[in-house]
Amino acid sequence: MSRAKVQAHYDEVAGVYDQRYDLRQGRLYHQHLSGLVLDRLKSRGLLLDLGCGTGIFIEQYNKTGEKAIGLDISPGMVRMGRLRCPDSEFIVGTADVLPFEDETFDSIASLLAFTYLNDPEAMLRESYRILKPGGQIAVCTLSWNTLTCMVPFFYRLGERLGFNKIGVGDFGEHYYTGKEMEDMFSQAGFVDVQSARCSFAHYTLSPRLFAFAQRLEPFIEAHIPYLAFNVCVSGKKE
Ligand SMILES: C[S@@+](CC[C@H](N)C(=O)[O-])C[C@H]1O[C@@H](n2cnc3c(N)ncnc32)[C@H](O)[C@@H]1O
Repeated sequence: MSRAKVQAHYDEVAGVYDQRYDLRQGRLYHQHLSGLVLDRLKSRGLLLDLGCGTGIFIEQYNKTGEKAIGLDISPGMVRMGRLRCPDSEFIVGTADVLPFEDETFDSIASLLAFTYLNDPEAMLRESYRILKPGGQIAVCTLSWNTLTCMVPFFYRLGERLGFNKIGVGDFGEHYYTGKEMEDMFSQAGFVDVQSARCSFAHYTLSPRLFAFAQRLEPFIEAHIPYLAFNVCVSGKKE
């Protein structure tokens, strides 16, 4: 997967990104994921958000009274993050090579970015290194199932047809099952590793269908998790 291509894409869409995830249904969708990630991070304290985008999660985290730093490969997204959260620090960089000292952070979050990583194991090893003992990590990302495994195909097709939409392109994204992610977390050294599939209401649905799917969401997540299309995985550094 070409990092340069991912970066160029997000630089291009940075100005309109919030129209998808910080308005109407997109905001509700994102708040659902942010809430799940926040719930997993009992360690709180100084947080690093990997693939922070325009800082939507950082803004929410700051509201808890804690401090956060954002890191993203796209200077355009980082610029938008700095506008949203002028008191937070934002750094341009790649999530698998982290420019921080050992045991710097209490918590690490990453939302909707893990699928882009060339070397997710390195991201988790680096995260382990820079977390303080007792620190926690929570990653929420699109997960593999028989529906989502077709998404890269449609994104590739979208690129060929010239659709210039957020996330649409041939980026070689990789979707993992919860079990695969749990194994990666454990191999990186994390303990108390847990994963749960989440999200049934997709922001692209019509308003009526979205409201209906939202009502079903807790039931799907609890009883038919295979139909939920994201996964939230967390772990702790002992
Ligand atoms: C779908 S956006 C999610 C942004 C944000 N986390 C959110 O929830 O709104 C994916 C983000 O991952 C970033 N990204 C992709 N590959 C990355 C990498 N290797 N290192 C850091 N950020 C990366 C992109 O630039 C983009 O901002």
